[in-house]
Amino acid sequence: MDNGGGRTRGILLAGGTGSRLWPATRAVSKQLIPVYDKPMVYYPLATLISSGIREIVIITTPEESGQFQRLLGNGHQWGIELRYAVQPRPEGIAQAFLIAEEFLAGGPAALILGDNLFHGVDLRPFVELCDGLSGGRIFGYPVTDPTAFGVVEFDDLGRVLSIEEKPARPRSRYAVPGFYLYDSEVVPIARAIGRSARGEYEITAVNEEYLRRGALQVTVLGTGTAWLDTGTVADLVRAQEYVRAIDTGQGTKVGCVEEAAWRAGFIDDDQLRELAAPLLRSDYGSYLLRLLHAGDRVGPREQLLTALD
Ligand code: TTP
Repeated sequence: MDNGGGRTRGILLAGGTGSRLWPATRAVSKQLIPVYDKPMVYYPLATLISSGIREIVIITTPEESGQFQRLLGNGHQWGIELRYAVQPRPEGIAQAFLIAEEFLAGGPAALILGDNLFHGVDLRPFVELCDGLSGGRIFGYPVTDPTAFGVVEFDDLGRVLSIEEKPARPRSRYAVPGFYLYDSEVVPIARAIGRSARGEYEITAVNEEYLRRGALQVTVLGTGTAWLDTGTVADLVRAQEYVRAIDTGQGTKVGCVEEAAWRAGFIDDDQLRELAAPLLRSDYGSYLLRLLHAGDRVGPREQLLTALD
């Protein structure tokens, strides 16, 4: 796939071991188990689609690639192009850029982790910026216990001062969520940093290199947005409860790939109706039809603006 236009392509990293969820994930990928009413991978995929990204490579373990392909296909049903690649061993998040090098074809990249769930945040403007700008952009999200994450320290102007991986004494309460935007330099940078002492290509090392070059931006995701990762049983249950609360309370689905594609204009009403047809025995299918009956394609943000007019 040529990328002459230099448009940002998506990488959805869904390999890993999932050992913190064993035995639940002994025989099935973590990213294929359900979070409430849909497989986990739907959430990051919907986030990429909502961000306007149409070309995506899904990286999985070799054993699980077939199952992902059965679930997601070539993406044409959602007006997108899905490719598949494998990571033979879980050798770090930043290895994704080396695996996806050919797919990226010298263009910018948006990497999302397969177990990360975003809600209420519009990442599209950042992706559009990434199409033309140089450097890297990561996000900061306040959490009560940052010690399990990459932690970013920055000044009032959003300039990053430091990034530390799983610090015992965090310098801020801003964790770095699993959504990263980089220009085409990311591939040579990932190659140059090589493996860490624990044998992994560290995403924090990539960010440190961009920081060293003075080319790393951080955007704080504010209150009113949700970022959840689903790596432990407690996290997973929390995510299930969150999605369920929105579903039953608002009647809105989080992580609905079909809806994201429809709102992004990648598929039309007839295609959405066709996608709903085989799913009508579950609430998921009737939800897709309800979207059509609601009569418009206006997203929550536009609805809010309309209400304020
Ligand atoms: P982690 O939660 O760090 O790792 P894991 O999924 O293997 O789980 P555990 O620690 O319980 O064994 O990974 C975060 C996300 O990144 C997850 O979606 C899997 C993905 N990942 C890869 O695909 N390959 C890798 O080499 C790493 C480190 C992570």
